[in-house]
Amino acid sequence: TQQAVEALERLVRDVPDFPEPGIVFKDITPLLADPAGFRVVVDALAAVGRGDDGTPVVDKVVGMEARGFMFAAPVALALGVGFVPVRKAGKLPHATHEVAYELEYGEAVLQLHQDALAPGDRVLIVDDVLATGGTAQATCELVARCGARPVAFAVLMELGFLAGRDALGDVPVTALVTAPGD
Ligand code: PRP
Ligand code: MG
Repeated sequence: TQQAVEALERLVRDVPDFPEPGIVFKDITPLLADPAGFRVVVDALAAVGRGDDGTPVVDKVVGMEARGFMFAAPVALALGVGFVPVRKAGKLPHATHEVAYELEYGEAVLQLHQDALAPGDRVLIVDDVLATGGTAQATCELVARCGARPVAFAVLMELGFLAGRDALGDVPVTALVTAPGD
């Protein structure tokens, strides 16, 4: 939606050389602080989880720590389905699946509670930024380990020059805005 695109252009700030030289950080804090902008963006993400008749076509929304939580949880509420957190290693208390992944800067492990998704569940994955696709790919694998199905991936911003969507195979990617490719 045009309103969501406008909100992102106005309320997401590019911070050069954070957290490392050469990285341009997408700072979403002005967007989170603007209730009207936050709402149109959440609604645009939630639309990815609805069918043509407007009813939800997913059973759960999965979001990744930390910035994914801020969008995935309100999207789940908007759809009227449950929210499931994917967390960085060592945070989830019950039995987990885990997948190692590489980030644009660094390396890490993501975990998901084994009983958080039921076999056959249709899952919408929501995050803020798609860069290399490492986080998104690891999350898809965690969902699949539960026997559930990642049916869509929705993200505020895609860094097109990093080709992260290639990492997602046949999971359809919806990005509200795409940074131009090199
Ligand atoms: C950031 C961003 C995405 C991920 C995208 O998370 O929020 O989750 O990088 O990069 P990728 O496509 O190369 O995997 P990060 O783990 O850096 O920080 P966060 O905990 O603040 O979300
Ligand atoms: Mg993140």
